[in-house]
Amino acid sequence: MKTNRKFTRRQSLKLFGFGATGIALSACAAPRPATQAPGAEQPAQPAADGGKLEIFSWWTSGGEVEALEALYKLYREKYPNVEIINAALAGGAGQGGNMKAVLETRMIGGDPPDSFQVHLGQELIGSHVKAGRMEDLSDLYASEGWNNVFPKGLIELASYEGKPYSVPVNIHRSNVMWYNTNHLAEAGLDKPPATWDEWFDYAEKLKAKGIGALAVAGADPNFSAHVFENILVATLGPEKYTGLFNGATAWDDPGVKEAMDILLRSHEYAQADYLSVAWGDINEVMTSGKASTMIMGDWTHGLFKSAGFKDYGWAPAPGTNGVFVALSDSFGLPKNVKHRENVINWLKLCGSREGQDAFNPIKGSIPARTDPDLSKYDDYLKQTIEAFKTNTIVGSIQHGAAAPQGFVNDYDTIVSTLLASKDTAAAMKELVAAAKTAGLSK
Ligand code: GAL
Repeated sequence: MKTNRKFTRRQSLKLFGFGATGIALSACAAPRPATQAPGAEQPAQPAADGGKLEIFSWWTSGGEVEALEALYKLYREKYPNVEIINAALAGGAGQGGNMKAVLETRMIGGDPPDSFQVHLGQELIGSHVKAGRMEDLSDLYASEGWNNVFPKGLIELASYEGKPYSVPVNIHRSNVMWYNTNHLAEAGLDKPPATWDEWFDYAEKLKAKGIGALAVAGADPNFSAHVFENILVATLGPEKYTGLFNGATAWDDPGVKEAMDILLRSHEYAQADYLSVAWGDINEVMTSGKASTMIMGDWTHGLFKSAGFKDYGWAPAPGTNGVFVALSDSFGLPKNVKHRENVINWLKLCGSREGQDAFNPIKGSIPARTDPDLSKYDDYLKQTIEAFKTNTIVGSIQHGAAAPQGFVNDYDTIVSTLLASKDTAAAMKELVAAAKTAGLSK
């Protein structure tokens, strides 16, 4: 297995930028012209009666709901006459399965929500920007000074043909291993496993005690696909992992096979009832002590805090120390929305220091801005802010940063089939074909 070395911040952002968009970072280094778009010349004001603001998201779990509410509270304070319609929709496969399906129908049918949660990067670009359904936000970026406060690599990720199309409200880390501190102590370990070899030793110790080593939501195929992206980073290292999205690394590389073998073996140590557990119920598996570790993004921190669970620690997913698998939640402005000025004010709040410092400490994410009020962030988040500055940054597959939604759908199905068939050769062949179909490779 590879040990990952540290990269400079410049290299990190470069990896993130190239991996996610295939566009050289230098292309986004030039300042954007401070021109005004039609309709954006006037300071944004709500309609005389305030009007409405419909915000569509899949944030319905603990932590997510409170974080969104913190933004709404600030918005209501500033624009008391605007009625916020929180159109959050739960359910479906993976992240926002139902929400994304309804969104697609509404966007195609010319009935867009005023603004919606979307992953920064290929998810937004592939689904709605290329189809011409979103407004270019260059002027807002210029007027709000965002070109100077969001990292360049992040702006590049938000952009298509040099223009940004959504406002990042946060940065989440996908490659975190959450672990039960009591189990670790009971097994006689003084630090969490740092490699997959160490993890399997720990898993054997837990097995003897009747505890599952890995929390798995087997009823939702996309959950294991999230775990798999983190194993790919461990076996390939960040550069080769990034190469999976620009054709430099083949999806049948020996490192991909090694990752599949680890994935299959890790699931032999899942909690007993894993096949019937849905993603939405996975946190209970950890808080009840049925499983000892979970490889999941850091919204878990927000969810655990919201549930009052305290017996947990965190570490990079095995084999990924020094790498930050990133994703970002963002909001944009669909064309022809009903309450455009209210949306512009919403986007301004999402991108503001005040908004980000209210939202992120609750959500379990770090601010997309580089100038947060650090006193508002707890130890985990302070460490993560630091890690984002010093680690190699790569994009998450499962959470829309690295590849378009069409590829993510294929990837999820292939990983799910692999878990049942255990046929690694067939899975690699299908991934090679899916990457070709999605235009990630020739
Ligand atoms: C991610 C999203 C997070 C969180 C998570 C829950 O895709 O970016 O904000 O909602 O899904 O599964």
